[in-house]
Parts: sequence; C-alpha cells; structure tokens
Amino acid sequence: MINVNQNVEFNKNFKDFNETKCRYRIAKGSAGSGKSVNVAMDFILKLSDPYYQGANLLVLRKTEDTNRDSTFAELESAIIKVFGNYAEHVWKITRNPLMMECKTTGSRIIFRGMYDEKQREKIKSITVKVGKLVWIWLEEATEFEESDIDILDDRLRGNLAEINPNLYYQMTFTFNPVSASHWIKAKFFDVEDPDYFTHHSTYLQNRFIDEAYHKRMMRRKERDPDGYRVYGLGDWGELGGLIFTNFEVKEFDTTPDMFDSMYLGQDFGYNHANAILTLGFKDGDVYICNELYVYEKDTSEIIQLAEGKFNKNLVMWCDSAEPDRIHMWKKAGYYRAQGVKKTPFQEEKVLAGATKKTYINSQIDWLKQRKIFIHPSCVNTIKEIQQWKWKKDRETNLYIDEPVDINDDAMAALRYGCTTKMQQRASLLEVL
Ligand SMILES: Nc1ncnc2c1ncn2[C@@H]1O[C@H](COP(=O)(O)OP(=O)(O)O)[C@@H](O)[C@H]1O
Ligand SMILES: [Mg+2]
Repeated sequence: MINVNQNVEFNKNFKDFNETKCRYRIAKGSAGSGKSVNVAMDFILKLSDPYYQGANLLVLRKTEDTNRDSTFAELESAIIKVFGNYAEHVWKITRNPLMMECKTTGSRIIFRGMYDEKQREKIKSITVKVGKLVWIWLEEATEFEESDIDILDDRLRGNLAEINPNLYYQMTFTFNPVSASHWIKAKFFDVEDPDYFTHHSTYLQNRFIDEAYHKRMMRRKERDPDGYRVYGLGDWGELGGLIFTNFEVKEFDTTPDMFDSMYLGQDFGYNHANAILTLGFKDGDVYICNELYVYEKDTSEIIQLAEGKFNKNLVMWCDSAEPDRIHMWKKAGYYRAQGVKKTPFQEEKVLAGATKKTYINSQIDWLKQRKIFIHPSCVNTIKEIQQWKWKKDRETNLYIDEPVDINDDAMAALRYGCTTKMQQRASLLEVL
C-alpha cells in the first residue's frame, strides 16, 4: 500500500467527481475553484495505487509548452504534496520530454500538445510501459475542438478486464466556462447521458483560497460583472468583446540577440498585481519574454524576487503615478527606470464627432496592429490577455470603446513597456 502524506486534503465538493467512473467527467468552474489541484492530486493518488495497476494518463493542452507551465507543474506539486520527502522514491520525473513515471506501479503520465503538428500524429501511437492508456485529462478544455474528442475516443478502446478489472476508461475535462456558445456546453451540458458526469465549482467552495483573493473577486464583481459571472461564479459567459485577439502563446528564444530592441514594463500594485514584463521587439512584432506577477508584496520584496530575472541595463518603463517606487528601483540597480511620460501620442485627443480617444486606447490601437507573441512561462499574462475585454453599456448592452479596468496589470505593464516604440512611431507621424 502507498505511504501517503497525512497533509493531503481535498475540497469535499470534488468527492463524487473523483469517484465517478463515467467515461466523461467534466469540471466547469470559476477561476480558483480548485479544479486543477484536485484533478492533479486525484490522478497522482490513483496512479500510485496498485489497485489501479496498469493505468496510464495522457495529459493534453493545446501545445506542449503550455503543459510544462501548467499541468506538469501542477502534477509535480501534487506528487510533493502527497509524498513529501518520499516523492523522489515514488515518482521519476523527466523534463525532456515531459514525463512522469511511478516507480512502484510503473504507471506513466505522458504530456502532449494537441495542436503541435508532430505531436498530434504521435497521439495515435503512445506507448506505455505497463498496462494501457486509460485516462486522458484535457486542461483548459475550451481550447480544444469537438472533433479532437473523436480522435481521443479512439485511443480509449479495448478490453481492460484482462489487464486489471479495476480499470476504466475516462476523459477528464477542466475549464472556465468562457462562452455559452461553446461546443462543450452543447455536447455535455445540454444533453443528459449516463456517460457524462458534469460538475460545477466556484472559488467560494475552495477552502484553501485566501482572504485577498476574495477581495479581488469582489472588486471584479463590481467593475466587470460579465467577467465575474465566468471567473467568479463559473457560469457560462460570452466570448465577445475581447480587446486582443492578435496574440499567440508559443515557445521562442528569449536571448537578446533575437531582438532589435528590448524593454521592461512595470505596473505597480499591492492589492492589484504588481506586474513586470521583459519585452522584445522584432520586425514590428512584440514578444513577451518573461514576467514577474505578485500580489501583496512591498517594493523591497519585489526587488528581491526580480533579482536575476531581468536585465538591469534595459529601460524600465513604469507607472508614473508613484515616483517613490521608481526611485527605489533605480537604487536597486535598474538605473534606467522611469515613469511613462505624457507624450503628444499619449495625451487625450478629442476627435471630430466627439469620440474621445484616451491614452490607453491609442496604446491598444498600436498593439492591435502587430502580433503579440507570449512565452508560455508567462502564465499570468496569458490569463489576463485571454480575458481583457471592452466594457459594456448597461442600457444598450453593447460594447463601448473603453477597457474593463480590472485584471489588467500585466496589460498595463505591456502598454508601458512599448512606450519607446510607440513614441518612435508618433514622431515619425509628426514628420510626415
Ligand atoms: N486540495 C487543495 N489543497 C491545498 N490547496 C488547494 C487545494 N485546492 C486548491 N487549492 C488552492 O487554491 C488555488 C486555486 O486552485 P486551482 O486548482 O488552481 O483552481 P482552478 O484550477 O479551479 O482555477 C491553488 O493555487 C491552491 O493554492
Ligand atoms: Mg486551473
């Protein structure tokens, strides 16, 4: 029997979800409801248990890179939570390729990107050491196409009884319900089927969530009711109104030689996130290379956390509202830290027809005209950009020309970090 750390605790509302043997178990929920942690711990316990001897798990995201920073990291910390100091004795973890193997049961966890050209083919020919591939986890399942499910269904076939009568085939889905028009709703929620186990959870049921998170959610409820519906209550939302759709998450070389120029951008925050990004510019495109994203840390703590992560020789464009903080960064060696200045390009312009183009909107316009590549390690920036939306007019219910001003800290750091580049274009326009 396995020697499990007594400190492992589940959120009780996932009990039935963890026990169901339905072919499809589908966990929709708010951000922070505990879905990922729960599923990771559930799989680690099952795969380490001789009762499920012969079980293997395939973990899918859109690309392999996103696995590394989400599911892989989540499963790795689940192993540590469950086995504590014994972790190394029970699980072998390799990073290249991403793989985990339980030393006692021989069960494997295999990671694939459904949309990585080469890997997609390989999904059909996954080999395991013992037993069969019986479980598949689709994390952020709304990123997948309905037709992917058929491909995966084909993988979960054949008699299991002769391997181990305790085994069963199952696909696990975890996601935030971004859009009511998503195929997942039509397929799994609008139809009743004994093969489907659907589950709903919110951060309010997650007893491990701290007070500060609750406060942030309350702010979001006030400022961004639509976003709160999805990310706070886990109810189906709508996909419209996104500010940026011109971004792509992908692995790229982040060494300075790769870029024409590089800058840092920082948005200060305490209750809101404090976000710092390294930006690279090449051929007119923007590359977000790395991020530091923290809550409730004072400046000296953040400076410590930033140590070794950012190039101090780069210009660091900061929120100009807090000169004291800029001063501290300068003292810490970021001698080119400065506040974003109000240049003509950034000043409010009142256009004919009384459309008020704000400074933020002109920055957004600039960013929308290029491609934004985001390194998969920038998990918080990715979360923000995927949900940063235009506000809605309460009466007409139509989107207006003003961004929702919450969960936009990495977006602010991004805007600031582009200042030099934006100014260059602005002065070019003046010459013309
Ligand atoms: N069983 C658990 N034990 C300890 N902490 C947990 C547990 N479940 C959730 N948490 C905490 O709650 C946070 C949010 O959970 P997570 O699984 O990431 O939510 P979701 O995937 O639904 O967005 C985690 O970062 C972790 O700090
Ligand atoms: Mg999650």
